[in-house]
Amino acid sequence: MDDSLLRVLTVPTSPYSDQRPGPNGLRRKVRVFQSRRNYLHNFIQSIFSSIDLRDRQGSTVVVGGDGRFLNQTAIEVIVQMAAANGVGRVVVGHLGLMSTPACSCVIRKFKAIGGIVLTAGREPAGPDGDFGIKFNTANGGPASDAVTNKIYQISRTIEEFAICPGLRLDLTTLGKQTFDLENKFKPFTVEIVDAVESYANLMRNIFDFAALKELLSGENHITVRLDAMHGVVGPYVKRILCDELGCPANSAVNCLPMEDFGGQHPDPNLIYAADLLDSMRDGDYDFGAAFDGDGVRNMILGKHGLFVTPSDSLAVIADNIFCIPYFQHRGVRGFARSIPTSAALDRVAKATKIELYETPTGWKFFGNLMDAGRLSLCGEESFGTSGEHIREKDGLWAALAWLSILATRRQSVQDILQYHWLKYGRNYFTRYDYENIEIDAACEMMEDLEITIADKSFVRQRFAVEDKIYQVEKADNFEYTDPVDSSITRNQGLRIIFSDGSRIIYRLSGASSEGATVRIYLESFEKEHIFQETQAVLAPLATIAVKISQLHRRTGRTGPSVIT
Ligand code: G6P
Repeated sequence: MDDSLLRVLTVPTSPYSDQRPGPNGLRRKVRVFQSRRNYLHNFIQSIFSSIDLRDRQGSTVVVGGDGRFLNQTAIEVIVQMAAANGVGRVVVGHLGLMSTPACSCVIRKFKAIGGIVLTAGREPAGPDGDFGIKFNTANGGPASDAVTNKIYQISRTIEEFAICPGLRLDLTTLGKQTFDLENKFKPFTVEIVDAVESYANLMRNIFDFAALKELLSGENHITVRLDAMHGVVGPYVKRILCDELGCPANSAVNCLPMEDFGGQHPDPNLIYAADLLDSMRDGDYDFGAAFDGDGVRNMILGKHGLFVTPSDSLAVIADNIFCIPYFQHRGVRGFARSIPTSAALDRVAKATKIELYETPTGWKFFGNLMDAGRLSLCGEESFGTSGEHIREKDGLWAALAWLSILATRRQSVQDILQYHWLKYGRNYFTRYDYENIEIDAACEMMEDLEITIADKSFVRQRFAVEDKIYQVEKADNFEYTDPVDSSITRNQGLRIIFSDGSRIIYRLSGASSEGATVRIYLESFEKEHIFQETQAVLAPLATIAVKISQLHRRTGRTGPSVIT
């Protein structure tokens, strides 16, 4: 045998019963991947085995990650296994880094059959943190339930995996590396790409970079503060906002990706991105944005740290969508939001006569609509916003969308937001999270609540708190029929809609790592009183939400763990 050929081994293994991917792939503590024999290999083999051999043979697969602890080790294993499983080419980000939006972009650009994205999103990283593996399909978006179920079924009975253990990668050098494998006619190729450049190029084709440059570094430029929270998006912020659009280097902070995210929680909200909020309080910056570990989420702030709720951000982008050249050229096919996201977007859709879709929580529902050419802009209350340019949420895109609005309108974030409320009224919105609730108590609460709201007498029932009276107009367990493939998704949240448009929605988080997280989403619409304090406006609804569900009595809690 020729010694220069890499050996392909088939290694026996035993299955694990807990490799069912959640909405964001398989997420586990790092120590689970480290301590359980072949835990990573089993799951990766299950992904490859889920793809028909004919599709896999000679195909391209993208591998990227947010740089968290285990990232590089996992990439080497994945590439070794891809080679042994008949994949022809693997495209990997330089140093093994690629934000999730960039992965989506690169999958589409290289016409790959899919991509393996190594991230646990906003969860902490490091040896004691989390690690995750997500599979995206050829459209660049998260795999459908049918695909993830197939992966899970394979993982339950897996007996062996294929690997080229001798294959060594150089993640530091851009360009092609080829490997000759035994029993393989064609060489296997690894291409190390500059994912930042691929992504930047996509952005150049969407936004007016000359106008953004003028806004950020021209004579009357605004000042910005961008916080990458030591996630993977730092180099993207630096290259696009600083090097290309002229923001001063010190306006982009925490831009060095770290494998433990600097010990922080890379979750762009008012609690975890409190540093950004503090740095903006004195009014030194006109615009602020923070991003999560893998670059999908965003938080937008105005001067003095004015918080734009993700639901309002989505509605404002929708209302100003033609400030973005991409949409001027392509037109707008539809808007969408997930069920708990406030209905601020609905008002814009109605006024502009653009189709609106209300989907379950999770990004894959948007992808289906986009692939069918029915959707251009979408978002979720959980700090995700994006357009049809890729099939993932895209934090930096959202910040560039806002900057495009500022560049066109030459108004402050505050003025833009207030103008929006004056035009449409304001959907006050907040979310109460009850974390780490005993799973049985949470499930029983939801079951009983469903029975309560399903009772015919519940509709038209009135609830009074102080001088506020709310009358139930509709109550149900949200169910979604996909307009593209007619698939039905049930149990997506219990919703109570009142006659004035106010809403209470109860959901169990799909991603809690300990116990259950009960989320209560509260929303109240005000046409005239648009300058009130959100929590004060929503306090009566919160009281009603707790009363109807008996949540405090059933869980022993006296209040939510987090309010956003
Ligand atoms: C993931 C998905 C989001 C979704 C969120 C909901 O992060 O990518 O699209 O909004 O989960 O999380 P939850 O904990 O509320 O189920």
